[in-house]
Amino acid sequence: MAQPPTARHPDAGIARGQAPLSSELRIQPLFPVALAQVQLRPDPLDLARQLQTLLALRGEARSNPDPGCAWTGDLHGVWNLQGHPTFAPLVAELCGHARSFLTQLGFDLDRLALHIQRCWPVVSEPDQVIGRHHHPNAHLSAVYYFNGDGSGAQGCLRLFPQRQVNELVPGMAVGHGGPLGPSPWTLPWIDVAPRAGLLLLFPSCLEHAVLPNGDPDDLRCSLSLDLALTAPAGSAPPEYLAPHPSHWQEP
Ligand SMILES: [Fe+2]
Repeated sequence: MAQPPTARHPDAGIARGQAPLSSELRIQPLFPVALAQVQLRPDPLDLARQLQTLLALRGEARSNPDPGCAWTGDLHGVWNLQGHPTFAPLVAELCGHARSFLTQLGFDLDRLALHIQRCWPVVSEPDQVIGRHHHPNAHLSAVYYFNGDGSGAQGCLRLFPQRQVNELVPGMAVGHGGPLGPSPWTLPWIDVAPRAGLLLLFPSCLEHAVLPNGDPDDLRCSLSLDLALTAPAGSAPPEYLAPHPSHWQEP
């Protein structure tokens, strides 16, 4: 039988659900979703080579195939760039940050194996989008931006809450005409603007979408990464963590 999780919040009082005593009503944030951001400094020559290769891999296709939907490599046979010589060093660097992310979440990396499941490029022509979705096959997802100026003009990544419990009445946070006004407690989504060299990491179950590329003169180019966690090879897996794939057997 699983034991209750041990509270590891940096503020032990908050972890126990205790707010400081005060005569004023205070609201305390609970259960934050972990979104990691790190700004990498890509070498301009590497970046140019990666973009050139990416567009060559896209070939003649321009959508997915709905003309309003961006081209995503996973639907066109380009899903394992972790093994491509142009992208492998970048992917290795991204996975280093993924390990840092896991450490900050409290994972013991000595008792884990991190696997790259898929790694695919995404290219948005002007006005193209990607609809709301999540990645049910993976545990940890990442996106790395080859371009973007941080303004959001090329189309933000929109992240949605798992459940909007603070709206109290389902639908209030996105309903028209109120009576619920905007506040930090009921954000219906959070947008992150792409910027060249920016890496994002987030739980794969988090719903997200890509807004229209509003830059008529540029493509929006990114690299997506799906990662999975298992027990290390040769070890007895702890409860809920899958055994290492080397122990799996296809009947
Ligand atoms: Fe996605």
